[in-house]
Amino acid sequence: MADKKIYQASTTAPVNIAVVKYWGKRDPKLNLPTNSSVSVTLSQADLRTHTTAACSSSFGNEDTLLLNSSPQDVTGARTQACFRELRALRSSLEASDSSLPKLSTLPLRIVSENNFPTAAGLASSAAGFAALVRAIANLYELPSSPTDLSRIARQGSGSACRSLFGGYVAWQMGSKADGSDSVAVEVAPASHWPTMRALILVVSAEKKGVSSTSGMQITVATSKLFKHRAEVVVPQHMEMMEKAIKEKDFETFAKVTMMDSNSFHSVCLDTFPPIFYLNDVSRSAIRVVEDINKKAGKIVAAYTFDAGPNAVIYFEEENVEQVAGVLKSALGSLDGWQGRDIKVQDTEGVDAKAVQVLKEGVSRVILTSVGEGPIRTEESLIAENGEPLKK
Ligand code: ADP
Ligand code: DP6
Repeated sequence: MADKKIYQASTTAPVNIAVVKYWGKRDPKLNLPTNSSVSVTLSQADLRTHTTAACSSSFGNEDTLLLNSSPQDVTGARTQACFRELRALRSSLEASDSSLPKLSTLPLRIVSENNFPTAAGLASSAAGFAALVRAIANLYELPSSPTDLSRIARQGSGSACRSLFGGYVAWQMGSKADGSDSVAVEVAPASHWPTMRALILVVSAEKKGVSSTSGMQITVATSKLFKHRAEVVVPQHMEMMEKAIKEKDFETFAKVTMMDSNSFHSVCLDTFPPIFYLNDVSRSAIRVVEDINKKAGKIVAAYTFDAGPNAVIYFEEENVEQVAGVLKSALGSLDGWQGRDIKVQDTEGVDAKAVQVLKEGVSRVILTSVGEGPIRTEESLIAENGEPLKK
């Protein structure tokens, strides 16, 4: 009788938000970037993808992926590249040990859940592909390191390679044509600088206009400023940022974070036709952070924006009231403050118009902190009979 056994493994994986941004591909097929980047991994207590990977001869002929209960297309080149590379690694394990079951030949069934909005500028693709790759690597019992796996996750979505680690993570752009040296490495674990906090102002939970994938390709093709960013600005920011993280120097961390976000969005504006990710609410968040810093007499908060209007504001725990306390006085009625007792601060010295725009435009906040990388879990999204578990 054929082996109908169901093999499975599960993981959770985090979101990461870059403080030196990836923007531009030198090889769209292999997803190789035009510059290195650095990110902070955010805590899975707040934002998390949970993925179970299973395989069995009873699963029919095709690989499938169910995301938040809805079937996804897995025939795209990115997902296919991840499946192919992971299967190749499993297959070489099987070739070297004939007692291993031939999992590489079986169809995959992936079930995944994001506990936050998908495709809304909250980096679901990063957590999603990191979880997919980590879950299959667990299922295949691959001895691969997070850096090895980052090379695979990168092909799913560039930023995903950084979600295979916790803490502070760099994606080294590499120089080889085959992409073998374009990988993520740990700059410092979360425990090195555990007091880093992030307040996300969710401006729009809607799907975004220009996807990062297509946006960055148009930038590479049309922006002259982009070349200067990739060749001059980012290398400087990378060096300053890695040093700031190692020394836990928040002021430099914050300055580089804000300047790199501004540089990235300038390049978007210099794209032809221009790409606008920031809106009035985003600009008001910038204004409020500037006023918070002025009020404090030093840099205690740093804003950054990805390919969308949501603001991510980094600060240290010791300044929670000076930063989150001020924003709470404007946004205290929104979802997301629960579970943290933050004393509301006065908004004296903070631009009243900007505060009003935030009140009208922010739909919820997420208060989180630096966190760990993927965590293996026994909690499965697939029942023993192979069927996805209903939530
Ligand atoms: P975001 O801003 O949330 O990263 P993108 O549009 O860049 O939005 O990416 C969203 C895409 O990422 C989804 O359409 C899906 O293809 C992929 N994705 C998101 N979450 C997962 C997941 N948990 N597992 C697999 N793929 C995922
Ligand atoms: C602005 O990783 O989503 O968030 O590789 O095409 O999937 P693809 O792009 P993606 O781009 C992220 C862009 C960014 C900056 C960053 O995360 O570094």
